[in-house]
Amino acid sequence: MINEIKNLIKKHNITIAAHYYEKDEIFELADLTGDSLELAKKTSSLKNPLIFCGVKFMGESAKILNPEIDVYMPRLADCSMARMAEEIKVQNNIDLLKQNNIDFLPITYINSTAKTKAIVAQNGGLTCTSSNAQKIIEWALKQNKKIFFLPDKNLGRNIATKLGITSAIIGEENWQNATMICFDGHCSVHQLFMPEHVEFYKERFPDIKIVVHPECSPEVVKLADFAGSTSQILNYVKENPTTPMAIGTEFNFVNRMKNEINPNIYVLSSTKPECPSMNETTLEELYKLLKAIDEGKDYNKIEVDPEIAKNAKIALERMMKLS
Ligand code: 13P
Ligand code: SF4
Repeated sequence: MINEIKNLIKKHNITIAAHYYEKDEIFELADLTGDSLELAKKTSSLKNPLIFCGVKFMGESAKILNPEIDVYMPRLADCSMARMAEEIKVQNNIDLLKQNNIDFLPITYINSTAKTKAIVAQNGGLTCTSSNAQKIIEWALKQNKKIFFLPDKNLGRNIATKLGITSAIIGEENWQNATMICFDGHCSVHQLFMPEHVEFYKERFPDIKIVVHPECSPEVVKLADFAGSTSQILNYVKENPTTPMAIGTEFNFVNRMKNEINPNIYVLSSTKPECPSMNETTLEELYKLLKAIDEGKDYNKIEVDPEIAKNAKIALERMMKLS
């Protein structure tokens, strides 16, 4: 099957992009790999068809930034956090901010639907990823506005703590007074990491470093030695190739770093923190898609409503300019 996959990729001159959280057998086939910001940048200048192995908002963003090319995904699996920010809820939150006369700038994590990105752009806002969130928020603070951050309350609150600004989840007590007002969304995978997991490792290995993604809860991030985006975690591991560390992020990525860079890596959890959406992309699904392309079918081809795409592109391009 792998040989047939490789032949079909070559025959149709297809580029394969894969996020770090993809299964190893998919990751190994990819021409382009990276975190969500790196992949958005790398795929935006392609001229040939693209198969994006990741979650739906990533394929959608690639198509919006590069509408001339055909973008396909083996699975149209959505990120659970992106699904939490249903457009109607986002619009209701924005209406509530306006009713409270709050002068705000909306920033949506790229983990959101194209429609949510479009709503954010129409309200003067932009996107960010975990790699550039701090930089984008610092820029937004210079506009002398409050920030409405969505969908991830954890990423928003963790960066607020780092920058020394107040934060609250919209609707909770005194939320109107906070500088960073967060939508009530979270990642179903990163919420699995708990302070007791940190204590477990610290008790057994006094020298261990705790490394986490900022989608983890503020309680966990506070206890960590290092918090950073996927690419920032990768750089940290490369700089510390023998240091024992327990890492709180997606399993496929952590396991690959353990096998390839630092054997002294542990998973910061008592369960296997796999992202179910990323794991929907399998060799079988990739093969099925390539056969469909070979037969001239439009199977799992990414299409975005032109009006939504136009506005979502504004939100993405504002971010690209600042990154
Ligand atoms: P990155 O921006 O670090 O790639 O994260 C994307 C993501 O979905 C993390 O859960
Ligand atoms: Fe979404 Fe979490 Fe999966 Fe990342 S790990 S794609 S935020 S569900």
